[in-house]
Amino acid sequence: MAEVLLGIETSCDETSAAVLVGERDRPELASLVVLSQDIHAVFGGVVPELASRAHLRALDPVVQRALAEAGLPLSSVDAVAVTQGPGLAGALLVGITYAKTLAAALGKPVVGVHHLEGHLFAPTLDDPDLEPPFVALLVSGGHTLLLDVRAWGEYRLLGQTRDDAAGEAFDKVATLLGLAYPGGPAIERLAAEGTDRFRFPRPMLHDGFDFSFSGLKTAVLYATRASTDLAADRTDLARSFQDAVIDVLVEKTARAVEHTEHPVVVLGGGVACSRALARRMSDRVRGLARVVVARPRFNVDNAAMIARAGWFRLRRGEASTHHLDANPSLPLPGLERGPAPTPTP
Ligand code: KG4
Ligand code: ZN
Repeated sequence: MAEVLLGIETSCDETSAAVLVGERDRPELASLVVLSQDIHAVFGGVVPELASRAHLRALDPVVQRALAEAGLPLSSVDAVAVTQGPGLAGALLVGITYAKTLAAALGKPVVGVHHLEGHLFAPTLDDPDLEPPFVALLVSGGHTLLLDVRAWGEYRLLGQTRDDAAGEAFDKVATLLGLAYPGGPAIERLAAEGTDRFRFPRPMLHDGFDFSFSGLKTAVLYATRASTDLAADRTDLARSFQDAVIDVLVEKTARAVEHTEHPVVVLGGGVACSRALARRMSDRVRGLARVVVARPRFNVDNAAMIARAGWFRLRRGEASTHHLDANPSLPLPGLERGPAPTPTP
């Protein structure tokens, strides 16, 4: 098993590299560098070609910096882990081409990592004792997944979004309210000063474990059109929207806890940076489960979580071959879909 693992993440708009050092199942983070591409803010969303080109320019300096901060030379790297998917094809290709080339030059293994398995492993960077079974809610700009995590690498899909991802809804509503991309943090700041005056619908609240956020987004759109003083209504609109999303996320996750009887809930992905979400989740499952959330730096896209998930896969002897290719819709490894469980109403 590798003792020094270099992780690389380029699936969206963060160029990131990290170094993990250690033995067996207890690797330590030696460095993490995350470079956020700010160019997309001007466009209100990620522009794929600009993201690829920015990765191309930034990746080598970012890797060099991660090695320097770890105090290790390139020659000490024993393996390379890189995000294989899901993500933007062009952005993924930059990271994968770099990782494969580096690994080949060093004569070391490379492993392709599923981006969401990275998000799942993120809390273990702070809490190495975290072990399944647990319920995981993965909420990012591209995904909303409710998982029954029976063991590392053994996942059962309980529910997912039928349309927009939770983070995508935050970003789109932020645009409606005239806030900058990414919208989640801006909405959370505004919401703290507002009240749930608009009482938007809680989509599919009592209907299985799946989610739907596009109707909610439309409800916010109509409310902004109906507003005669948007500047004055913004805080309440942000709060009302955020409360609706959080109510649905919390209720379904709590029912998954009741259904599985797992003692832990893991929140992962960028939306898990929301302190309002973590607070409401903890209140709702108090006495049933403990809520675990990685710190924000490990929750937004970063290479430390990719390195950690790659470490797990390499320990299982799952290095990739030189055929490793980007897969924008890569299925989560070890995901069992099974018959949909019926949540208790
Ligand atoms: O996991 P992530 O960094 O990238 C993807 O894999 O998509 O997630 C980014 C998403 C964005 O949609 C952003 O608006 C959202 O996470 N986000 C938040 C908060 N911080 C980031 N959403 C709600 N509240 C927050 N505090
Ligand atoms: Zn992500």
